[in-house]
Amino acid sequence: MKTSDIGLVGLAVMGENLALNIESHGYTVSLYNRHGEVVTRFVEGRGKGKNFIPTYSIPEFVATISRPRKIILMIKAGAPVDEMIDKLVPYLSPGDIIIDGGNSDFHDTERRMYELESRGIWFVGTGISGGEEGALHGPSIMPGGSVKAWPEIKGILQDIAAKLEDGTPCCQWIGKGGAGHFVKMVHNGIEYGDMQLIAEAYALLKERLHLDNEQLHAVFDEWNKGELKSYLIEITADIMNFKDNRNNYLLDEILDVAGQKGTGKWSIMAALDENDPLTLITEAVYARMLSGLLEEREKASCMFLNEKEFADTGIDIESIGNALYAAKLVSYTQGFSLMRRASEHYQWHLDYGTIAQIWRKGCIIRSVFLGKITEAYTNEPGLENLLFNSFFRNKILSSLSAWRNVVADGVLSGVALPCMSSALSYFDGLRTLKSPANLIQAQRDYFGAHLYERIDKPRNEFFHTDWTGEGGNTTSRNYNA
Ligand code: 6PG
Repeated sequence: MKTSDIGLVGLAVMGENLALNIESHGYTVSLYNRHGEVVTRFVEGRGKGKNFIPTYSIPEFVATISRPRKIILMIKAGAPVDEMIDKLVPYLSPGDIIIDGGNSDFHDTERRMYELESRGIWFVGTGISGGEEGALHGPSIMPGGSVKAWPEIKGILQDIAAKLEDGTPCCQWIGKGGAGHFVKMVHNGIEYGDMQLIAEAYALLKERLHLDNEQLHAVFDEWNKGELKSYLIEITADIMNFKDNRNNYLLDEILDVAGQKGTGKWSIMAALDENDPLTLITEAVYARMLSGLLEEREKASCMFLNEKEFADTGIDIESIGNALYAAKLVSYTQGFSLMRRASEHYQWHLDYGTIAQIWRKGCIIRSVFLGKITEAYTNEPGLENLLFNSFFRNKILSSLSAWRNVVADGVLSGVALPCMSSALSYFDGLRTLKSPANLIQAQRDYFGAHLYERIDKPRNEFFHTDWTGEGGNTTSRNYNA
């Protein structure tokens, strides 16, 4: 019987393209889809004449894959992954490997890895970024899970991944358990942040500088030649002057309600779990939610009309670009900070320079800027905050007055800039030596005997004051968030 190098389950767009990519690197791929006609259509269509083995039942599928079997799932995240694993496992042997290539919740990946390892099966949860085109021509791949699986799958995954100029594949082992899917989740959160920041720049350029679509195209095109050069800026330039078949700018015909599938929200939830202030991505997710309140927005826009054009604050294309860049620095700083805290929590030993490198090609957030992050972590592997790196520090300092001015302009003129402004608040909060949190501690102790630390005493020594003379000595030390 003819056998394959790898099996692939799920022939939706990403699955099809990934199968074609794997095959194009000289591998034979067994295919299975819960609807058999999808397999037939594919092998008679885009897959015709190529090294695919179409199969129509799970036992047949598993039997055609050479051992140790490698099976990649390109199916909807959530329950379908557990269901497919349950169907596959009875036919697998110890040492076989299941790879989940969807956008799964990292907690699920962590659980699945331990469950499957206890049955002798290796499990890998891998982030795959780059959309349809990336899947076909070379995505960015973030595998994590059973470390014993890595030597078996490394060759195939690195072959199909995007490559840097020097040939380095954008695919390296991320860590055990749910590490790969966690990193992909943060990638997506950063993607939300980048997209919202670009949208805010668009709002300012359009509403405050009154640029038309062709001028907007020119600005983004120009930005894509400099330090903002990235895939998202590049496609934004294309979108600005794209015309539909009625010769209208398509962008202006699209309803301003942003969708989301959940990875941005998961990033926020993970940040809350790690006590990490992921403010920019959080605002980006909320901005999508706010965009969805269409009817309320329509009412509010009538009730609170912007009655006049506000005074010119002197912002220009350059200062908007600077604000975009500075806020982006904060976003990546926060994303890497979240990964650092999670890595300590789960003991993943994440390598941040490598993660930035994997993101340099193939994925949605690919940019020249990620090269600077790799450099920062290569020079200082223990860097606790990206803003402490001299390149980032100097960039923030040189953009700061433009950034403040742009945010002020948005505030004064009523253009919502949730991400540019929250990034600035994070920055100001971070660089404030004496914050007003002493007052919060005083209030907590006043109303609930929650204790406070003193500036003249060592950390972790706690005090209570009977603020009213009626409080007694009982304190509430026993519960903490
Ligand atoms: C990628 C993307 C992809 C994501 C879409 C849509 O890396 O290729 O992140 O995984 O699903 O971008 O995400 P939303 O629907 O949540 O915007």
